[in-house]
Amino acid sequence: MREASPSRLTQNPDVPSRQRLTIVLAGHVDHGKSTIVGRLLHDLGRLPDGKIDELRSTCERRRIAFEWAFVTDALQAERAQGVTIDAGHIWLHDPKRDTVLIDAPGHHQFIRNMVSGAAMGDAALLILDARESLCEQARRHAYLLHLIGIRQVAAVINKMDLVDFNQEAYDNLAEELTRYLFRIGLTASVVVPTVGPDGDNIVQRSNRMDWYKGPTLLEAMDTFAPLPSASRYSLRMRVQDVYRDGEKRIIAGRISAGRLNLGDEIMISPSNTTASVLSLESWQPNGGTAPTTAEAGQSVGLTINKPLFVARGDLISHTLDLPFETHAFTANIFWFSETPLVEGRTFTIKFCCLETKATVKSIVHVFDLDAGESRPGEQVPRNGLAQIKIYSHSLLAIDAFDKDPEGGRFMMTDGHAVLGGGTLTLDGLLDMRPAATPKSQNISTISHHVTAEERTRRNGCRGAIFWLTGLSGAGKSTIAMGAENALFHLGYPIYVLDGDNLRHGLNADLGFSPEDRVENIRRAGEVAALFANAGMIVITAFISPYLSERQRVRTMAKETPFHEIYIRADIQTCEERDPKGLYARARKGEIAEFTGISAPYEEPVEADLTIDTQDLSPDDSIEMLVDYIRAQVAVSD
Ligand code: ADX
Repeated sequence: MREASPSRLTQNPDVPSRQRLTIVLAGHVDHGKSTIVGRLLHDLGRLPDGKIDELRSTCERRRIAFEWAFVTDALQAERAQGVTIDAGHIWLHDPKRDTVLIDAPGHHQFIRNMVSGAAMGDAALLILDARESLCEQARRHAYLLHLIGIRQVAAVINKMDLVDFNQEAYDNLAEELTRYLFRIGLTASVVVPTVGPDGDNIVQRSNRMDWYKGPTLLEAMDTFAPLPSASRYSLRMRVQDVYRDGEKRIIAGRISAGRLNLGDEIMISPSNTTASVLSLESWQPNGGTAPTTAEAGQSVGLTINKPLFVARGDLISHTLDLPFETHAFTANIFWFSETPLVEGRTFTIKFCCLETKATVKSIVHVFDLDAGESRPGEQVPRNGLAQIKIYSHSLLAIDAFDKDPEGGRFMMTDGHAVLGGGTLTLDGLLDMRPAATPKSQNISTISHHVTAEERTRRNGCRGAIFWLTGLSGAGKSTIAMGAENALFHLGYPIYVLDGDNLRHGLNADLGFSPEDRVENIRRAGEVAALFANAGMIVITAFISPYLSERQRVRTMAKETPFHEIYIRADIQTCEERDPKGLYARARKGEIAEFTGISAPYEEPVEADLTIDTQDLSPDDSIEMLVDYIRAQVAVSD
């Protein structure tokens, strides 16, 4: 927690925002983006009188050819007729609305801007060169536009004078573009043939391309509409910091979606705790009236009615329409590290101010830019685009990109190096929140008079959980029962909880759907924790296929020592062993959702112990577990 520093929280939440349309200019650097913008400003009458003459004579003096691209540079410092240029953003101020043109520079920069939210656009102009076929940069930009959720796209085929205003050249490129965009899920509303320096079809209709009957670039831009404001989405605010201001604890952050009002009931995730908003803090140095409401895009500070532990990276929402809580998600990513991305790679992921370690579980597909198609792939090369599955090492509160366009983006980093970034989807993933949300109220916790230390002293060992995970047929039950037998005869208080056994009784009402498996593991985890609290050594043998569920049982165990033990054998080996004949039946389609065949198994990222049953005999595997358990539960005198 820090001391309050109101100057860091600058925006006034009460200032209304004007309607704004953001257009991203995409395409290759040489294809005339700046020329088109320079000419557009001129033809709209937005340049100060004499500006062009002044630029032309400067060019003559310096013996360089005049270029329209100089116009934007020359305007950097000045405020012309309703134009502001600032950090590569060109603002056109009109009575109706502000239009912001953002140049998409080299894709690294573009991607960085995109991840940080600076390249959030409502629409895009994709600018191509009439002399070339669809270049790699244009393909990549188009894909990135799609990735960041831009669906309003108009294309420009520029430099038409250099192909003699030839309609066939236009038609061929327009068709190639349309086909490509279609494959990645985009449509260009229009494809305008232009000549940047001469202004053909930019603001004025060209008389050199009578065959083109579509709109001019300006007309096409006028058809773009701003996307619904992020304020209309459900509330999301990622906590940036918690400050102390006297007795007050101010939770500060930026609202990325929705609106927050004084008195609102809020949920803090992933701790899954609720509170109500006691105050929104005023940023006026000498008090001023405190705001009563704040919306997307604004930074706010708030206080709540309970002394809850709130940390940087927590996500604030309302109590309805909650973010997902999960360890795993699927993401569409771009990768620009020199070293190709492979399965098992670990890095830091950053969602705004939430940072955590994460590992690539699998590469779902790699996008082939040339073909405009996704293919299976073992690795994602530099500048590659792909869909991957990521496992986070801690529980995340997150949203799919379409739910919170700003919050649903993330960056992958290693130290200071940015490796890539992406947007996330929550397709087919489980929300872990329901299992963590108790239904009953008015319940308290009763303390035991017998302490854990007394139990340890009596038993001569510590209660602990040894959680075996692995595919069916990997050897979990064999090893668990063998170790139980050996340890029992050595005098240890020990018991095995086995998946098959519990499914006859406690879990008889559960099947193998993802939801039922989650509940199966939750119950098993609770029972294991009870046994261990009673002072017993518990070995569990459940497939427990989800990484996040195993994380959750570790959390459930609280102070009880919890060891995740991976009983490893690959799917081919398990299928060859097939002790219960279930794999054969699953292959024939007789068993649905069979782990490893038609349902997933997520390998441990950092198991406390791995017993590889492909290398070790059953006896050696049992001995390995017995030795490990004895070492872990031993109490020093
Ligand atoms: S878990 O996935 O929910 O952890 P659990 O360990 O309880 O599974 O049960 C797995 C056992 O159930 C397997 O060893 C196998 O004997 C049996 N089984 C029956 N149907 C399935 C299935 N669809 N997938 C996996 N195991 C199954």
